[in-house]
Amino acid sequence: MKISPKMKKALNDQTELEANASNTYLAMASWCEITGYEGSAAFFYVQAEEERQHMLKFVHYLNDLGVSAKIPGTKSPASNFKSLETIIKTALNNEQIVTKAIHNMVEIAQKEKDHSTYAFLEWFVNEQVEEEKKFETVLQKFGLIGRDKLAINEIDKILNTMSAIPIDTGAA
Ligand SMILES: [Fe+2]
Ligand SMILES: [Fe+2]
Repeated sequence: MKISPKMKKALNDQTELEANASNTYLAMASWCEITGYEGSAAFFYVQAEEERQHMLKFVHYLNDLGVSAKIPGTKSPASNFKSLETIIKTALNNEQIVTKAIHNMVEIAQKEKDHSTYAFLEWFVNEQVEEEKKFETVLQKFGLIGRDKLAINEIDKILNTMSAIPIDTGAA
């Protein structure tokens, strides 16, 4: 199986994007933990793990094709955050960027009639719908419940519940 240099670069870039997403969620988890938002911390530790699984999917896919995957260095994520709400907004924003990158790869695969990569990416297309929905749902809670200390405590509990929902890593 051969993939084009353009597709190869896009897949390697995506590996980096997923690695950075994992690191960013790890930083968010750590901030939540030290701030006393235990549920949110649990939620973001799970997100960090999930993004790492995404990264590995790209690494394995490239290696399976015999194109050696480039293991990315990661950027130092921000370590200080204004509030739980800004964290969720940033997370949603990051997910939207990832969705665009995935869609962009799907278009390359379509143009190049790269059926294997197209099929591989399908899981990610669906996953991104779930990812955006997840953060949009949480963001809505601030409008619904509020932004005072009691409301944040309530939202923290909701995030704790969400952290316990088993994630679909797409592992066969
Ligand atoms: Fe991801
Ligand atoms: Fe994600």
